[in-house]
Amino acid sequence: TPFLRILGIETSCDETAAAVVCRHEDGRGETLSDVVLSQLDEHSAYGGVVPEIAARAHVEALDGLVEEALVQAKVSLSEIDAVAATAGPGLIGGLIVGLMTGKAIARVTGKPLFAINHLEGHALTARLTDGLAFPYLMLLVSGGHTQLVLVRGVGEYERWGTTIDDALGEAFDKTAKLLGLPYPGGPAVERAAQEGDPDRFTLPRPLVGEARLDFSFSGLKTAVRQAATAIGPLSDKDVADICASFQKAISRTLQDRIGRGLARFRAQYADNRVQPALVVAGGVAANQEIRRTLQALCLEYGFRFVAPPMRLCTDNAAMIAWAGLERMAAELPSDPLDIQPRSRWP
Ligand code: KG4
Ligand code: ZN
Repeated sequence: TPFLRILGIETSCDETAAAVVCRHEDGRGETLSDVVLSQLDEHSAYGGVVPEIAARAHVEALDGLVEEALVQAKVSLSEIDAVAATAGPGLIGGLIVGLMTGKAIARVTGKPLFAINHLEGHALTARLTDGLAFPYLMLLVSGGHTQLVLVRGVGEYERWGTTIDDALGEAFDKTAKLLGLPYPGGPAVERAAQEGDPDRFTLPRPLVGEARLDFSFSGLKTAVRQAATAIGPLSDKDVADICASFQKAISRTLQDRIGRGLARFRAQYADNRVQPALVVAGGVAANQEIRRTLQALCLEYGFRFVAPPMRLCTDNAAMIAWAGLERMAAELPSDPLDIQPRSRWP
């Protein structure tokens, strides 16, 4: 494949993002620009993302961000080879804004449009940052998703495990809310846990020991509520102890669930001479205790642990652009301009 440049657009949740990424002839990817505008301030007063506010904020921000991404990359619209926009899954209002913008740019430039599945963006990021070869395992842990996915090739994904209730980031956010900590809950819980006693409360470790690779976190949240209610008004020490116990329960759960996944991967690709790899993505990957747990697991099972830089682990448009480039390079077809966004898209 020749040298290719693509414009990426991401609007599926509360980050408005645009990026220009290129793919060199040898297959190496390079991010030329990557701009992200977080809407955190708009939503924090509500303790979560408000879809209508998100959609309006995308409308206001996106055109400017696309322009900024092009300027930073020093390319004009007429020089890009394609457009990639997230088409799902996510909040439908935001998806409409981003995909429609992508379609309009494809229409005026006459360049192909790639309607990208957001999860495919996360799944392929490690090939942009680390040039990782297929196959590998990817653990996506964000506010909306908790999935263990086998990435076999471009467009070839097998979901090995998913949450049957809350996403892991959601469990952090709900626990924080219960304890009176600010949104987003993950960083607040992690901070509080540093001073806490992880052994004061024994919280459940859902699905541990089961053969299937799914996750469940809503029982954990309920147990946190019960522990908090039993104490009455919480001191800072109580909050810290609950947070530390919560993180410990999650670490133990991940150890079991992901450990099984790594063993299964090894069994399926036993003759693979390259070292197997586990990639993490999603905002929860910022958590140091969870990182340490995964790192230790990888060491134990002989896996390479790949954690792309945080700004590429959380929502961004570079990963969407890159997914489009991977599709182009794999000679997968582009999408028609009447393609519809999908709020649900497994
Ligand atoms: O990938 P992400 O930025 O966005 C979406 O989910 O769309 O993930 C955000 C999630 C939130 O639930 C947040 O609480 C969680 O990631 N998170 C963390 C940490 N930082 C962010 N969870 C645990 N520990 C952290 N340090
Ligand atoms: Zn995401």
